[in-house]
Parts: sequence; structure tokens; C-alpha cells
Amino acid sequence: MTIQRICCIGAGYVGGPTMAVIADRCPEIEVTVVDINQARIDAWNDADLSRLPVYEPGLDAVVGRARGRNLTFSTAVEATVASADMVFISVNTPTKTKGLGAGQASDLRWVEACARTVAKAATGHTIVVEKSTLPVRTAAAIKTILEAAQEDDQQRCFSVLSNPEFLAEGTAIRDLEAPDRVLIGGEDAASIEALAAVYSHWVDEAKILRTNLWSSELSKLTANAFLAQRISSINSVAALCEATGADVREVARAIGTDSRIGPKFLNAGPGFGGSCFQKDILNLVYLCRHFGLPEVADYWESVVALNTWQQHRIAQLVVQKLFGTVTGKRLAIFGFAFKADTNDTREAPAIRICGDLLEEGAQLAIHDPKVEPAQMARDLKQEAAAAADVLSGTGSWALAESVEEAVSGADAVLILTEWNVYRNLNWAELAGRMRKPAWLFDARAVADPAVVRAAGLTLWRVGDGED
Ligand code: UDX
Ligand code: UDX
Ligand code: ADP
Repeated sequence: MTIQRICCIGAGYVGGPTMAVIADRCPEIEVTVVDINQARIDAWNDADLSRLPVYEPGLDAVVGRARGRNLTFSTAVEATVASADMVFISVNTPTKTKGLGAGQASDLRWVEACARTVAKAATGHTIVVEKSTLPVRTAAAIKTILEAAQEDDQQRCFSVLSNPEFLAEGTAIRDLEAPDRVLIGGEDAASIEALAAVYSHWVDEAKILRTNLWSSELSKLTANAFLAQRISSINSVAALCEATGADVREVARAIGTDSRIGPKFLNAGPGFGGSCFQKDILNLVYLCRHFGLPEVADYWESVVALNTWQQHRIAQLVVQKLFGTVTGKRLAIFGFAFKADTNDTREAPAIRICGDLLEEGAQLAIHDPKVEPAQMARDLKQEAAAAADVLSGTGSWALAESVEEAVSGADAVLILTEWNVYRNLNWAELAGRMRKPAWLFDARAVADPAVVRAAGLTLWRVGDGED
């Protein structure tokens, strides 16, 4: 079985870059990415590659090579599904906000809608690949819907594979081009091999792991839970370092050299964000409760609880250090994205930290190299203020086009995202624009402490016990 035509439903942060790399590496396969969102598809088709809807280093070059050759973006969902021999489902699966499992279970509305679309439109033999991050046993639900369709029309048949994506935003293209592993879960060996053959265009055979469906689904949740747990672990140690006079970077280096622990993913910070970590852990928690394992559920839930605490903790210590009040004070926020090199703000620590400071009546001047102000307004549930309103004591925010603009008249700077542009700032010059005494709260530990102190700023760094 050789795959000739791939359809991917969902042109988001996962579907778009993944399909662009598949098309780039497999010129003989026709790859079409479909989405119900016309504006998104238009942006993927924009002649100006700097205007793609997803910002990822290197993505523009890959799309530039493949688009118009064997990579197409379209809203013709059913027609594309009908002609495809492999359909990836890569739609959003946010945490449910109401009903059964609210706050923990994933909302599978969009996945189910896709399964029904495939059930209706597919022809012949179709391999359906789940790519979205999904709770364990979602493949079973997709299969049930497809099998019902198969009974209606014996000309059609389906097989379902789980092929979770491990790319991290900001490094998506590198992660896709040189993955640590590709995971394919399924029951039908021929379908598994058909998908493996797509990846083997550029991935070593030894890195293509085959498992059963449930192991594949559970591995994705577990990988993200372990990664998130490392961040909560190091952030918990950071708080202890601050209290005791240790330095979390020294501790991280010391433990990271133990080959059983390893050096990566040990950066203390304002807590993890992104669309996956919290959602996947909460899925795991929901699953454990469902299967009667409350102790296991509590264990994983504490990883999220510590993350939330870390974010509130940072907002609180800013208030404390600024003499117990930030009402009417101007604070410069450097970075709103959940990590560097992305315009994504889903679950960004900045949202909770800025939210707490707004609650305290602060006037925030927010700078980010890639995040749109309309997105900040949605996340903060508050429109940008036309002018600072210091007297009313109500918190407000405004976009700052530059770091200089952000710090002018500010009492403090908070670095919340580790964008490269924040690493080597001219702190002496910036400090000159601030109201004294002025502070830098470096939640990502990117600024050079000696330079910051020489500029006359009082410095707080995450995990730094030195006063
Ligand atoms: C993550 C997983 O890494 C990826 O494999 C999976 O497919 C999707 O979820 P992503 O959320 O895009 O990827 O980025 P990641 O680099 O993992 O960062 C997640 C969050 O953890 C960010 O907010 C980041 O700032 C934070 N983080 C990461 C730290 O605070 N410290 C670290 O040492 C590493
Ligand atoms: C540990 C540390 O490894 C060592 O660096 C430190 O100096 C002392 O504590 P030790 O307790 O002697 O050493 O043995 P270790 O191999 O770490 O095992 C500890 C326990 O964990 C054992 O009961 C072992 O069976 C268990 N274990 C270890 C597991 O259950 N699974 C594993 O994958 C590894
Ligand atoms: P992810 O990070 O998982 O890629 P995104 O939210 O960035 O998630 O992208 C998911 C995309 O899936 C969105 O562009 C959305 O419009 C699209 N989508 C959701 N449901 C459907 C559907 N039934 N048919 C086609 N596209 C869909």
C-alpha cells in the first residue's frame, strides 16, 4: 500500500508545519491541508511568507519550497477527504469548560466532527491518523463512528492509527526534520507500514517505533506529563533556593550531570505554558480518576497545582517588593508568548501574572516581538487602554512597540518570556528611563546580573537566593 494523497484536517500549529515538512520531504505525495476557517487558509496561501498564520523559525522556507508543488491549503474539506488515501486529524482539543469532566477532560467536539466528515466523504480504503493530542481511547471512538459508516457502504473501509506529534513550538521544523522518534500505534500492520514508509523518506528506521493504539496514545500524555513534572520540580527547588541562599542554576547543573537525570529541561521560570502540558496532565488525572486510581490522579494533579502557584507567587512577590502596592504604578512586561520564538499565548504564564497585577491596579506596558495586541486583549479579558489611568486605581494595559517605550516611567520590568532580544539589553540606558528606585524581576534569568546591578537596578532572579 503506497500513499499517494494525504489530507490533513486542521491547519493549526501542529497540522500546518507537520504537513509542510511531509510535503517537502515526499515530493511524490500530494498533501492537502484543509480547515473550516477561511481566514486561516487564506493566510497559509498568502504570497508573503512572513504572513503565515503560525510563526515558526524555518517554516516560511519549507512552505515556500512545497506550496504550489505538492502542498495545498484549502477549505474544500469533503472533496479532499474523498480523494485521499490517508487522512490526518489535527484539530484543536481544548479542555472542556462545562459539562462532564469540565476543567479536566478534553473537548472532543471537533475530533468527533472530523470523524463524521471522514465517515461521510471518504471513498475506498482510508487510513485515518489521529495527530491531535487526545485522551487515551479516543481512537476507539473514531473507529466506532467509522465502522458504522462502513456498514452502510461495504465499498469503503477504514483503519485508525495513532501518530502523536512531539514537536515543540519554536523548534517545530527542527523537531519534525530530525525527530527523536516517530511513534505509530495501530492494529493493522499494513496501515502502520504505509505511514512508516512516509516517514522513512527522512527518518531512520530505528527511530520509527510501532506500538498498539493505547500505548501510543498513553505515551504522548506520559511524555508531556514527565516533561511538565521536571519543570514543576525545578520551580519548586527554585523557591527553596531563594529562601536558602542557593542558586537554582548551580543546582540544575549539579544534578543535570547525573546521566540518569540529564541536563535538559531544567530551566526554572515563571511556570510552563503552551497548549499541551496542562491539558495533557489534566487528561491523565481525569483518566486515573475514571479508572479508580485517585492516588495516581493526585500525584499528577500536584504538578499543575505547583505550576499555578509559581505564577501567583511571582505576581505576589512583585507586589511585596514594590512596597506592598502596585496600584497606579507602571510596570513593563517583557514577553507575553508562552515561550520564545512563537506567537502562541495559550496558557502563557504572562496571562496569570499580568492578570494578578491588573487585579492589583497596575498599569502594564506589554512588549512582545510576535504576539498581536488583539490576542493580549483576549487573554487578559480586557481591551488595551487608550491612556494610563493612574488615578482611578483600576488596572490597565497598553502595548509597547519597543522596550524603551515600555520602561519609560516604569517602576519595574518583568521578563516573562526568554526572547533573545531580552538577553543583551542596554540596561544602563533603560534604567535611565525608569522611576527610581527601579527593579528588574527576571523570571527567565536571561539578563546578566552584573550588568543589571551596575545599571543601578535592584534585581530579583528566579531561583537566586543571593540578596
Ligand atoms: C511541548 C513538548 O515539548 C512537545 O514534545 C509536545 O509535542 C508539545 O508540548 P511546547 O509546549 O511547544 O512542547 O514547548 P516546550 O518547549 O516543551 O515548553 C513548554 C513550556 O515549558 C514553556 O512555557 C516553556 O517556557 C517551559 N519550560 C520549558 C520551562 O519553563 N523550563 C524548561 O526547562 C523548559
Ligand atoms: C541512590 C542513588 O542512586 C545514589 O546516587 C545515592 O548516592 C544514594 O541513593 P541506591 O539507593 O543505593 O542509590 O540505589 P538506586 O540504584 O538509586 O536504587 C534506589 C531504589 O530505587 C532501589 O530500591 C531500586 O530498586 C529502585 N529503582 C531504581 C526502581 O524501582 N526503578 C528504577 O528504575 C531505578
Ligand atoms: P493545534 O495546536 O492542535 O494545531 P490549532 O487550534 O492551532 O490546534 O489548530 C486546529 C485547527 O483545526 C483550527 O484552525 C480549526 O479551525 C481547525 N478545525 C477544527 N475543527 C475542524 C473541522 N471539523 N474541520 C476542519 N477544520 C477544523
